[in-house]
Amino acid sequence: LDNGLALTPPMGWLSWERFRCNVDCKNDPDNCISERLYMKMADLMVTEGFKDAGYEYVNIDDCWPSMERDSEGRLVADPLRFPSGIKALAHYVHSKGLKLGIYEDFGSKTCAGYPGSEFYMETDAKTFASWDVDMVKFDGCNSDPKDMPYGYPVMEFFMNKTGHPMVYSCEWPLYEYSHKLPPPDYAAVRRNCNQWRNYRDVQDSWESVSGIIDFYGKDEGGFAQYAGPGGWNDPDMLVVGDFGLSYYQQQAQFGMWALFAAPLMMSVDLRSVTPEAKAILLNKNIIAINQDPLGNQAVRLFEVPGSISVWVKKLALPKPGTVAIGILNKDDAGVPVKYKTSFQDLGFTNKGGYSVTEAFENKPMGSFALSQAFTISVDPTSLFMMIAQPRP
Ligand code: GLA
Repeated sequence: LDNGLALTPPMGWLSWERFRCNVDCKNDPDNCISERLYMKMADLMVTEGFKDAGYEYVNIDDCWPSMERDSEGRLVADPLRFPSGIKALAHYVHSKGLKLGIYEDFGSKTCAGYPGSEFYMETDAKTFASWDVDMVKFDGCNSDPKDMPYGYPVMEFFMNKTGHPMVYSCEWPLYEYSHKLPPPDYAAVRRNCNQWRNYRDVQDSWESVSGIIDFYGKDEGGFAQYAGPGGWNDPDMLVVGDFGLSYYQQQAQFGMWALFAAPLMMSVDLRSVTPEAKAILLNKNIIAINQDPLGNQAVRLFEVPGSISVWVKKLALPKPGTVAIGILNKDDAGVPVKYKTSFQDLGFTNKGGYSVTEAFENKPMGSFALSQAFTISVDPTSLFMMIAQPRP
């Protein structure tokens, strides 16, 4: 969507995967969906270095509103859990130099049963703008996905009409996919949205993460080519720092999301994130790959069934012709896979060869002639990633 926003993939924090629809503030005041939770996460994004690393959005997900709209049809935040209101929360988040995102749904109700935007899109767009919200995630439960190609652009129209800049995060292609409709018209999705979900919700497991990676590898309908400044495929939140992934699986998710030029939305309890997970989330090199101004989304060059796959993302920086190459071992058989290849075998053509750096630790690996063979060892369920710069 050409609204001047999301010129690189948005980075931030989103409550859903980790905090879900916990509305029990009486018994679980520290973990329920409430203004306190978002304020705390905003504080920690600043004090723990996430803001400096580029994380910017603090995003509310489902379960924030009251069950009833007000007498003028406007949404109201739950008065017990958000006693100061969303506008005050936005101002608090802004005072920290961060931005606030909110959640609504295209249909009659949100996925968790709160009031949806059906018949209220103009009102809701105006309400969000009047609250100084900076991003809107627009879900698609309780609606007919056949209406989405018409309806999602209507919300975009009303958001744009407010004159208040808001990133528009859509779930339109996901609902078309899950209702087995024909492949989404990604050109239309890109024209109308700043980012869009196209596959199932991420869960806190390697099975879920590697399922998403497979979907992105298959790239049905060629959605990868639609990623670029202003519009991004969204493989869903990062579960780095949560319960289900090993250290190397967390690193693999982060690295793959960087290669996908994906929005980097953490969904983790920043009060208790381990130093190891934090180091992954703050890895400057990997963030730079994600935020590269070219905005290219990695494609899977090939996959050895049940073993490794090779992914390439073109980068503009530090100089044109640079690529990030990911070698992923999705398999959980206990031994590292030794993968022998050369730049030529991978289809690269620069006559002078490449100078190569391992990406996670920023370790120089030396220069490689085009046809020079090298072997990379990739542990089970982990990702090896390197940056290759063309040599003169
Ligand atoms: C859907 C979305 C999730 C989350 C939930 C909230 O499942 O895909 O990302 O927003 O709804 O109910």
